[in-house]
Amino acid sequence: MNIKADTLILFGATGDLSKRMLLPSLCALHAEDLLHADLRIIGTARSELSDNDFRNLAREAIETYLPDHRRGRMAEFLNKLSYSQLDVTTPEGYAALAEKAGLKEGDNRQVAIFLSTAPSLFEPTIKGLAEHGLAGENSRICLEKPLGTDLESSCAINDAVASAFSEDRIFRIDHYLGKETVQNLIALRFANMFFEPLWNSQHIEHVQISVGETVGLEGRADFYESAGALRDMVQNHMLQLLALVAMEPPVSFDAGAVRDEKVKVLRSLRKMEPDESVTGQYRKGAVDGQPVAGYDEELGRDSNVETFVALKAHIDNWRWQGVPFYLRTGKRMPERVTEIVVQFRCVPHNIFPGAKLKQNRLVIGIQPEENIHLSMMAKVPGIENEGMTLRQVPLDITMPDAFTGKFKRIAYERLLLDLVDGRQTLFVRRDEVEAQWRWIDSIREIWEKEDRAPKTYAAGSWGPSKAIALVERDGVSWHD
Ligand code: BG6
Repeated sequence: MNIKADTLILFGATGDLSKRMLLPSLCALHAEDLLHADLRIIGTARSELSDNDFRNLAREAIETYLPDHRRGRMAEFLNKLSYSQLDVTTPEGYAALAEKAGLKEGDNRQVAIFLSTAPSLFEPTIKGLAEHGLAGENSRICLEKPLGTDLESSCAINDAVASAFSEDRIFRIDHYLGKETVQNLIALRFANMFFEPLWNSQHIEHVQISVGETVGLEGRADFYESAGALRDMVQNHMLQLLALVAMEPPVSFDAGAVRDEKVKVLRSLRKMEPDESVTGQYRKGAVDGQPVAGYDEELGRDSNVETFVALKAHIDNWRWQGVPFYLRTGKRMPERVTEIVVQFRCVPHNIFPGAKLKQNRLVIGIQPEENIHLSMMAKVPGIENEGMTLRQVPLDITMPDAFTGKFKRIAYERLLLDLVDGRQTLFVRRDEVEAQWRWIDSIREIWEKEDRAPKTYAAGSWGPSKAIALVERDGVSWHD
């Protein structure tokens, strides 16, 4: 597509995501002159606000969530904003919105529409947009997760969107794809010669992907109760990470080429056995030295929703046969950390009698620190032990040190820029989402059949002991 939009319409513009991520990201992009100079941004929501009210709301959000040094030209940015009140379930507001956007039939304007509303509102919104000339071939639409709660509901959303927008005009967000280190995974794998020949079952023993969060429910009880860790984190972010680690080399960085390779991985995920998943729910404990309540206490009732999940996944293709991918994510873990660990196999023959050779391990830190750490064996300087004492040493790259002067961006900055510029590589295609749901549904089916209740774990721990047992029975330990 690669055509720049001149109008961006934000649905749900007064909501949490808009305040915390979207408006600050747009302001930061404007400060760096990265947005189309004429780009206008129209916020819509149910509240009755004037343009000025919306600008004030945006200013407050930006001052709260964007560091001072990134807020250059804020007044100019605020001038780009206007507001159109709209209840997406009634037809009235759409005509006013089209007018505000200055859209006339037959004109050539390019409009990007971002839906950060509840998914139950997607269908009526698409209908309203289509009926009021806002879904023409010059419009593109961006959808925030959750895209359904299972394959069926996800297909219903995808069908509704497809009734008005062709796939090359649909941008499904997974904000993990906007993170620098996640994109760097693609660079590491495909811009270096030495990883690729080793990147297979012959040389890799297993892969771990962990996403630990210290936060709990964060006041999102309704949403979380309908999701749980599996749908909230594994279905999207973690499976995207897995797909990027496991995919074949794409022929180019084009949206089609990259997504073709990711979807093949997602379709190769083996149906899980009942003993390959562990669920947990936190009880009271302490995180960062502060006492915190249990999930049931925060919720005010009992619940069977998992706040932790650990899985042993398999990818049934030539490259990954016999290589387990261990995934683990949870709320109220001891640390906020997202990392990918690639554990290499042992050398085929040890020529150093008495030395215990540790396997090479590549750790890709995604957050909070962006770094790459390769552990390797080296000789300890000295002449003891016949001069050949060996020890594991790290080879470290810390991204902020390697690229001084580059600051950490909000993941949405990259994604919003790609949306308005029309680049789809970092957005998720329909077949990917559906392959993700198909696998997730098969896991939920097992849990439902077993009527599984999550194991409890103390807040501030790495989940229930069964999660440790899940990997230990394969002779593996979670990386910490
Ligand atoms: C969201 C989930 O998609 O990702 C949240 O709904 C989670 O529950 C968040 O906290 C984690 O994102 P990040 O960027 O903080 O790792």
